[in-house]
Amino acid sequence: MSNKLLSTLFATGFAVMMMSSASFAADETLAEFHVEMGGCENCHADGEPSSDGVYEFEQCQSCHGSLAEMDDNHKPHDGMLMCADCHAPHDAKVGEVPTCDTCHDDGRTAK
Ligand code: HEC
Ligand code: HEC
Ligand code: HEC
Ligand code: HEC
Repeated sequence: MSNKLLSTLFATGFAVMMMSSASFAADETLAEFHVEMGGCENCHADGEPSSDGVYEFEQCQSCHGSLAEMDDNHKPHDGMLMCADCHAPHDAKVGEVPTCDTCHDDGRTAK
């Protein structure tokens, strides 16, 4: 876990919240969940979405690290995809596992 992610966790009290998974509202989107940590500005410059998603991608990585630093579902996509290609923040719900078949047609699933 990156230092920025850890300090965000502690600054917002998430370290405590994470110990009880009941704190996740099941129907919350990823964006809503992240807004609770500091607003739209957590991902968008001045709260406004960029046209190409690059600024938002940089924000994800500043807290979570790069695809290359993550597990085997993430690593092969380093340099190929942005986080939002699989975790669309305004559509995906917290706890939802992204599927593979929107891009790979050989039946593979998350490891
Ligand atoms: C976790 C990061 C994150 C947070 C927090 C977030 N957004 Fe976004 N938002 C994105 C990304 C990434 C996109 C690019 C579209 C996509 O892939 O979903 C986006 C797209 C948008 C769009 C373009 C239309 C759409 O839905 O695709 C608007 C408008 C928007 N966001 C507004 C907001 C507002 C207002 C807030 C605060 C209430 C907010 N966002 C919070 C990441 C975030
Ligand atoms: C190819 C699709 C894909 C892309 C791109 C992707 N993810 Fe994931 N992500 C997944 C899948 C599948 C899971 C659930 C299985 C797992 O944990 O690997 C997941 C789980 C996660 C989790 C929860 C589990 C954990 O390790 O804490 C986080 C956080 C996460 N992704 C963040 C990101 C970030 C940040 C990026 C961009 C740097 C990203 N993901 C890009 C598919 C993707
Ligand atoms: C300000 C720091 C910060 C930014 C920016 C940020 N995240 Fe997170 N994110 C967190 C924290 C803290 C958690 C909760 C701990 C965890 O699950 O790692 C989290 C959780 C997640 C999870 C797991 C939620 C679940 O289902 O349990 C995903 C997926 C995720 N983030 C994706 C993204 C994506 C995609 C972006 C960029 C569009 C992004 N994050 C930007 C801090 C951040
Ligand atoms: C948004 C599109 C997209 C999604 C969703 C996606 N991938 Fe990929 N994946 C790609 C692209 C693009 C490449 C790089 C081109 C290639 O090698 O096929 C790739 C390459 C890979 C590779 C290395 C090359 C190969 O085909 O073996 C693996 C492994 C992989 N993906 C696994 C997964 C898994 C597992 C999931 C579901 C958790 C997934 N991908 C979801 C787009 C995606």
